[in-house]
Amino acid sequence: MEVIICKTYDAMSRAAAEVVAQVLNEKPNAVLGMATGSTPLGLYQELVRMHREESLDFSQVTTFNLDEYVGLPTTHEQSYHYFMHENFFKHVNIPKQNIHIPSGTTSNYRAFCQWYEKRIDECGGIDVQILGIGSDGHIAFNEPGSSLSSRTRLKTLAKQTIDDNARFFDSREQVPVYAITMGVGTIMEARKLLLLANGAKKAEAVAAAVEGPVSSMVTASALQMHEDATVFADDPAASKLKMREYYEWIQAKKPDAPRV
Ligand code: F6R
Repeated sequence: MEVIICKTYDAMSRAAAEVVAQVLNEKPNAVLGMATGSTPLGLYQELVRMHREESLDFSQVTTFNLDEYVGLPTTHEQSYHYFMHENFFKHVNIPKQNIHIPSGTTSNYRAFCQWYEKRIDECGGIDVQILGIGSDGHIAFNEPGSSLSSRTRLKTLAKQTIDDNARFFDSREQVPVYAITMGVGTIMEARKLLLLANGAKKAEAVAAAVEGPVSSMVTASALQMHEDATVFADDPAASKLKMREYYEWIQAKKPDAPRV
């Protein structure tokens, strides 16, 4: 796992956007895995800027979002459909039919989840998956205790996640209790994983994910088993990493490393 510590949230967002842009330059029809929440907003803004100012092209891109709340219509301001449209999709040129977001209002969740997994396969798998991390160490909505082999499914949100996400709703009672989410196993099949974390509230979860034991109690720790996973953390989010100096040393020495 590579750990990149950035001085600011903006620097972190730019560094992660740079990697996504590189993937698109090498493979214009890449399949992108998208995350929602406050963390990737800066990354999306930077990708939109690159699209406008540097002609970064999304016309052949396909996307799959990690998750969606159950029960929220796509027009609800807190639905992830709405979030993605407002913060990213309406600003870039991804063909509408290439966009996939789990349905929070399907009449058959089991069938929908199976279809979603099949659709990812049909599109050739996810090339690069963007991830945030919950303060309980979750990736997507894989709450503590989720199997590290789990697939797309209906999931009951943990109380901690409901508390954390209440800030987006008028009251805690309005936060949906269920979500449909890609599983840890689904995420681990992406060819490249980028996990972003900012703010002191994420410091413990980041330390547990990067340096703790691999455990279903911290589903982000599964990234330790992935062959191409990068963690981008801003200064406060990196503050509890014991090996921080070493990660910074690796980055400082990177330009001089032997080229294979
Ligand atoms: C959202 C998602 C979640 C968030 C996590 C952090 O699609 O998959 O795992 O990434 O809850 O949320 P923020 O970024 O709002 O702190």
